[in-house]
Amino acid sequence: MTTVLFDGIKLLYTGDPECAEIEDAALVAEDGLVAWVGPAGRAPDADERVDVRGRAVIPGFVDSHAHLVFAGDRTAEFQARMSGVPYTGGGIRTTVAATRAASDAELATGAAALVAEMRAQGTTTVEIKSGYGLTVEDERRSLEIATGLTDETTYLGAHVVPSGMAADDYVRLVTGEMLQACAPYAKWVDAFCERGAFDGDQTRAVLEAGIKAGLQARVHANQLSEGPGVRIACELGAASADHCTHLSDADVDALAASGTVATLLPGAEFSTRSPYPDARRLLDAGAVVALATDCNPGSSYTSSMAFCVALAVREMGMTPLEAVRAATLGGARALRRTDVGWLRPGARADLVVLDAPSYVHLAYRPGVPLVHQVFLGGLLL
Ligand code: NIG
Ligand code: FE
Repeated sequence: MTTVLFDGIKLLYTGDPECAEIEDAALVAEDGLVAWVGPAGRAPDADERVDVRGRAVIPGFVDSHAHLVFAGDRTAEFQARMSGVPYTGGGIRTTVAATRAASDAELATGAAALVAEMRAQGTTTVEIKSGYGLTVEDERRSLEIATGLTDETTYLGAHVVPSGMAADDYVRLVTGEMLQACAPYAKWVDAFCERGAFDGDQTRAVLEAGIKAGLQARVHANQLSEGPGVRIACELGAASADHCTHLSDADVDALAASGTVATLLPGAEFSTRSPYPDARRLLDAGAVVALATDCNPGSSYTSSMAFCVALAVREMGMTPLEAVRAATLGGARALRRTDVGWLRPGARADLVVLDAPSYVHLAYRPGVPLVHQVFLGGLLL
């Protein structure tokens, strides 16, 4: 049994609603878990000591939405967009072609590099989706690669209908043979419910088949237009409705009344030059909000949760505290995890030491690399 005392913490944001912020704090980790948090000077003895010298500490970020298994990039599409070409999701097929052509090793190396990039920026839990294979074998191998990097793997065979296939035939494949091949590697099932991707009936069919196969649901909903995605997510008890950019009042009410988290992905609005989701409206209605990167080569090629926090504060009406909570505890709620996203006794000792006296600096000093150290299960990364 090894105990580590973290002290010299100027401001500890624990995320625990009972006691969210402690000034001049200490934290003790034991065997990878948080054992004690409280004021410095009252901490129990420990085997080792880490003095963070007046810095702030927050829980590791929980990035609950990322597409990391892919090949190629879409620089040209981004450039065109910045000259006024709108984002439609059609570019997904470009990445599908590159992904199908790549070897397992190339895909695994690319995904691992992005996870390493995320870790270095303070993300200690990440969800990874398939969705750039769109054949039985390419979806299966995407998920197998993802399982080597995280427990939070999501089957997104229903990302778009691949070129050359009729939508109904493809939905049959996604809910049949592809699901059977992918389910052993996935915790979650997801579908992109949008004009040009999957309609309400198709989304429902995909999610219901996934749930029947033992997966839990999450949905790409209401990204580019209002539609049935959020409603279906809430009805089916999905853990999360992701994007939530175009919401009716009924959608907001449904999210507030359900256990479905509204996961906002401001990197996508930034990179597609689109209006941001209205986080204030969701929070004021009582919905649980998460922030995630949506890291992918098309709509949001960022791995930085700190960037998303800064965007959420500046552009979406969130306070720094709400944004940091959404990027940690919110993400944990969106993944139905209680062992991450906060620092309270019993949780994993996944924590980030910031080169700043307060978490507020994540928004106050946008673009500045403030992550000083990352500890995973109490161990320095
Ligand atoms: O969440 N919207 C669907 N899927 C991704 C984008 C994928 C892409 O453009 O490659 C998203 O934004
Ligand atoms: Fe996405």
